[in-house]
Amino acid sequence: MKTAEEYKTILWHKYLQSGDRRIIHRYLHSLAVARACEELIDRFSLPVDREKALVAAVLHDYAKFEKPERLLELARQHGVEEKIKKYGPKTWHALLGHYVIMEELGIDDPVILNAVRWHTTGSLEMDLTAEVIFLADFIDDTRLSDVVKEVREAARIDFRKAIAQKIKKKMIDLNNYSQEQIALYNKYSEVQWKS
Ligand SMILES: [Fe+2]
Ligand SMILES: [Fe+2]
Repeated sequence: MKTAEEYKTILWHKYLQSGDRRIIHRYLHSLAVARACEELIDRFSLPVDREKALVAAVLHDYAKFEKPERLLELARQHGVEEKIKKYGPKTWHALLGHYVIMEELGIDDPVILNAVRWHTTGSLEMDLTAEVIFLADFIDDTRLSDVVKEVREAARIDFRKAIAQKIKKKMIDLNNYSQEQIALYNKYSEVQWKS
């Protein structure tokens, strides 16, 4: 496996191929997520493999500019078409991004692949590295909304509480109060959500 530094260059070339106008912003976001990830690891002395976490951070949005048709094809190949169709195409770069990374970069480390997979929706299956990426993706310094500022503040003090806050904001945002989301929120929050 290459280093996180090397993957930064690979990511940029991947983005360039897409011809999308938004690649600079997305590339800077990816670098910022890697910085946020390092800050979280240091602040809370999190026992994760730092290099793996950084690789996941750099590559978490690797599939961002992939065509929906290709992502759907991957979903079909892996038998997860029904599952991913519950979510909008905007989320597919995460839920299927790990397949793209496996195929194009030959990465097979489950810690990295899971962190990429769950970075948007979160999951009850997240390990510590996936949790770091899930939170870092929301509080990186390219995001400027008030909602993000609140979660960023929480992330200075309480790692799990900040994760719960991101989950809650997304539930409100997407108007998604499914049992799965509530269970996910309750896993991280001290105050349980009553449905
Ligand atoms: Fe993403
Ligand atoms: Fe992202």
